[in-house]
Amino acid sequence: MMRSYRRLDSSRSTLLLEVPEKGQPEGLPRILYWGSKLIIGEEPESLAQALVRPALQGGLDHAVPLTLSPSLANGFPGQPALTGHRRGRDALPGFHDVEVQAGENHLIITAKDAKAGLTLEVSLSLSFDSNVLTAATRLTNEGPSEYDLQWCAAAVLPVPANFQEILSFKGRWCGEFQTARREAPMGILMRENRRGRTSHDSFPAMILGTKGFDETQGTVIGAHLAWSGNHRILHERLPDGLRQLQLGELFLPGEVILASGETYSSPEVCFSVSDEGLGGLSHNFHSFLRNELLPTETREARPVTLNTWEAIYFDHAPEKLNRLAQRAAEVGVERFVLDDGWFKNRNDERTALGDWVLDEAKYPQGLDPLIAKVENLGMAFGLWVEPEMVSPDSDLFRAHPDWVLHLESLQEPTGRYQHVLNLTKPEAANYLFESLDALLTRYPIRYLKWDMNRDLSHQADGSSFVTGQQTKALYALIDRLRASHPTVEIESCASGGGRADFGILRRTHRIWASDSNDAHDRQSIQQGFSLFFPPEIMGAHIGPMHCHTTGRRLDLDFRAITAFFGHFGLEADLTELDSEELERVAAYIRLHKEWRSILHSGRVIRQTLENGRALVFGVLSDDRARAIVSYAVLDQTRDGLTAPLRLPALDPERRYRVQAFNKPRDPGRRMKNLPDILFDGSLVLSGKALANSGLQIPVLDPDTALLLQLTEVPEPR
Ligand code: DGJ
Repeated sequence: MMRSYRRLDSSRSTLLLEVPEKGQPEGLPRILYWGSKLIIGEEPESLAQALVRPALQGGLDHAVPLTLSPSLANGFPGQPALTGHRRGRDALPGFHDVEVQAGENHLIITAKDAKAGLTLEVSLSLSFDSNVLTAATRLTNEGPSEYDLQWCAAAVLPVPANFQEILSFKGRWCGEFQTARREAPMGILMRENRRGRTSHDSFPAMILGTKGFDETQGTVIGAHLAWSGNHRILHERLPDGLRQLQLGELFLPGEVILASGETYSSPEVCFSVSDEGLGGLSHNFHSFLRNELLPTETREARPVTLNTWEAIYFDHAPEKLNRLAQRAAEVGVERFVLDDGWFKNRNDERTALGDWVLDEAKYPQGLDPLIAKVENLGMAFGLWVEPEMVSPDSDLFRAHPDWVLHLESLQEPTGRYQHVLNLTKPEAANYLFESLDALLTRYPIRYLKWDMNRDLSHQADGSSFVTGQQTKALYALIDRLRASHPTVEIESCASGGGRADFGILRRTHRIWASDSNDAHDRQSIQQGFSLFFPPEIMGAHIGPMHCHTTGRRLDLDFRAITAFFGHFGLEADLTELDSEELERVAAYIRLHKEWRSILHSGRVIRQTLENGRALVFGVLSDDRARAIVSYAVLDQTRDGLTAPLRLPALDPERRYRVQAFNKPRDPGRRMKNLPDILFDGSLVLSGKALANSGLQIPVLDPDTALLLQLTEVPEPR
């Protein structure tokens, strides 16, 4: 049989595509191999031969492969990559006439079914440096009538049998990015999201790994859908062992009906594979975001931020804000962000969304005096907005009640007492553009916190669903605003981390990872977040001592160390802190600035110890000369003393000075003596000793942490 092969290589991975001979029953190409880099001379034909699956007795007369678009049309009995029909016809397209266009690091595969009137286009592109494979699918209706598209996987990946374990995401408001691990089950494991935004509970990603994979060991594949709307991710294992992963946009009934000549373009899926466990996988995704996906403004140092939300809520008094700004500047803050409550009649969460004009009762002289104060103190000014929403009690809603997403003759349940504007209506999108443009033109606003505080329930324009279009209209609105104000940075916030994905990150600069400023909860949220996102895009603030979302009372060092690694900031009433606390905050900010260039460019180190009772998070500089690592205890350790902390990521041949930045409080409660060695700067160990022998961490109280700095010590001559 005459098949041909196409190969893409990155620095550490290889993709092999098998293109069947024209006229073969399988029709479409298939991914023969996606994994660690193969040797240059690897013979694809031999690899294919070695994997030939015999046709089983009792089944079809040929073994059905998993193509780029598996379908019953080719005998594939599992979940098809495409479902749709034309009034009951053309539901099983048999694609043929395959063309493969090859570029330096990408392939575009097109195939047609002229009878069904459909053209499929799959693109695959492999980033050489970051080892991220980006895939997307387009379907064009070439037929004379409408085509009702029900599912179109953005990508289909074959999963080799040795990837036995699956790590997927779960979560909730104030508890995002939690992970769940299990054996790959028989049948379908499916995660669907119908919330109309990325969601707190179904972060659109899945990780598959070899048995027992961990932070440093095992081969793992990560997959993420770069999309901020409804989605579906499924892993399927068929009885004969064939396994596949599909990710794509989830359509509500009738949502995508392609007119004749119309094309559906899926969001992108980003895959990566690593032989170095989750740490290696994260490093690939972090490099991809840093070097290829994030808007370029983010390559600057991330300014330490003060956000006013948990300091003042809706209680905006210029005098108080001036004092807050003064204090912020004194401790080293570089950006001052005025959160919710600044616009007309916005005195609580029930009113005024949509009316994006300043509340002159609160700011009789406009925003200028506050901005001038902020700027004179050397800080940049940022502002909170929630453009997609409208309060029933607002001038906008009274004037344009028809501008909201709604289902005919059904009352939409409100969420945070608000409705969602229908951005697919050009007049609504224009109104938002003009309101935001006016603000950005009138004031020197350097940063927008773009919030979005409810799930979409009636994702419709009267009678038909428009969720995907709404997401695209949101992207278009942000893109338009960025084109007019290219230096303004934007944060994506959706009641915390409800809209965190690579789709929104193509046009925004950071993510508010969670509304929980509680460092205890943040520890696991941030570990999960960091699987796909690098620390610098993670908004992380020192919150109040008495946490507002949980009621926990947490020590300042623990709060500061937890926020330290991300895009660092404060979100508490600094005017209430005493001078000792202010000095401590200032010391952490100074330390952060000293380490910031490493924190926000280096390689993340994570460890989960004692079943999550202790979490390690750190960053190693690219040249492996410096590292900073936090050891956070979330619950009493089982055995009194914990095992020495080993740090395998350092250079085994170099020596490092190890010094803790902070000391445990009241160590005498648990230990008869606190060894000085970690604190006095005299400890020097090789990377090999740190990896194999380790550091005895003192017994720490729950909800406290130790911050360790490691700096290379040159060899004595
Ligand atoms: C929800 C956000 O996540 C908070 O940080 C804050 O900005 C509030 N909205 C303001 O209403």
